[in-house]
Amino acid sequence: MQIIIAAPKKLKGALRVPGDKSITHRALLIGALAEGVTEVKGFLKAEDCRSTMECLRSLGVMITESGEKLQVRGCKMDLQAAGTPLYAGNSGTTARLLLGILAGQPFKSTVIGDQSLSKRPMKRVVEPLLQMGAEITSEGDHLPLTIHGGRLRALTYNMPQASAQVKSAVLLAGLFATGQTVVIEPAASRNHTELMLKLFGAEIESAECRVMVKGRSVLKGSSIQVPGDISSAAFYMVAAALMPGSAVLLKGVGVNPTRSGVIEVLQRMGADLELKDQRNWGMEPVADIMVRGGAPLSGATIAGSMIPRLIDELPVLAVAATAANGRTVIRDARELRVKESDRIAALCSELRKLGAQINDTEDGMIIEGGSQLKGATVDSHGDHRIAMSLAIAGLTASGDTIIDGAEVIAISYPQFMADLRSLTVF
Ligand code: S3P
Repeated sequence: MQIIIAAPKKLKGALRVPGDKSITHRALLIGALAEGVTEVKGFLKAEDCRSTMECLRSLGVMITESGEKLQVRGCKMDLQAAGTPLYAGNSGTTARLLLGILAGQPFKSTVIGDQSLSKRPMKRVVEPLLQMGAEITSEGDHLPLTIHGGRLRALTYNMPQASAQVKSAVLLAGLFATGQTVVIEPAASRNHTELMLKLFGAEIESAECRVMVKGRSVLKGSSIQVPGDISSAAFYMVAAALMPGSAVLLKGVGVNPTRSGVIEVLQRMGADLELKDQRNWGMEPVADIMVRGGAPLSGATIAGSMIPRLIDELPVLAVAATAANGRTVIRDARELRVKESDRIAALCSELRKLGAQINDTEDGMIIEGGSQLKGATVDSHGDHRIAMSLAIAGLTASGDTIIDGAEVIAISYPQFMADLRSLTVF
């Protein structure tokens, strides 16, 4: 599918972005393990979360959907063996977190994925789960992968790289082990699993980059209101900031500090972003975010412990950098190479077609700002965040921008084009 983006004058209005993808996955997975019913309001209706839902249904979990609400009937830690392979689609979170849970189930399961997911590294989650006592077989580092879970040993695991997916897989497996499982990260990644396990009554403690969970704690079904996804809101933050005269209010956005790096970096670059009405939904902080366009932006260095706090927003921040004054340097972001696409390669090739000055480094990008982009035909590389970032670049480009392979947007944000249109002023 192709989409065509014309250059509007500005963006105006208010928008409630769809529910957070990471939190929706976790509500389904943790709800499935709990005792009793979990109600999930404002969940994300997108392909990635459907993958988690369908895998859980195959494992015997009853999930019912009515309007904006989901009900998950928990299985008290005991899932049923699925008769067929579990298809995680395009979703790394589904595959990796589910493996953590399957490590605790005394039966054999096979996890498969689409073409992109089947190329993504799995050793990072397989290794700690093997150390805990799961039996796992695969060819190389990738899906398909067969896991036979059962009795697990608690583990203290020093993670080589910050990853919320690996941390979560080990913590979920830790629920089935006797004793305390400890995960130590080199930098703090998103902590939604920890917050949700606590809400469900698990014995879990965290301090800075160290999390400890006690095995065999009983999880009790709960009620969850999913915040808006800051990773989806980020597209409008950048678009509105770049277009003079814009004023957009993004309502009910999750601003958990482990995710809110994009706000800090845009403010540091000079964007006019204001957080209003800060409150908590359950254990997750939420705010309305007002973005006003036209303030001049300057380039920035984005590196170190900031990276895990905005890893999924780096593609759209690269778009902001093309318009900023001066140079932007993104470092320590090698992980971008093993996301839904090699995002460093994809951004460099596609943004160059629009006239940007951008070069790849091994672990990031260097962008010389101040370019006026020009519309062209570009490609999504089969990656939802690349497609939407290119759409935002297209808004600021002169002439029309055509994006090939735009159907992938449905992975995380099926109504993206309709929401964007609702804010557009020509
Ligand atoms: C996610 C964690 C991040 C992120 C991904 C979602 C999660 O990946 O990029 O989109 O929900 O835990 P890593 O944990 O591999 O860094």
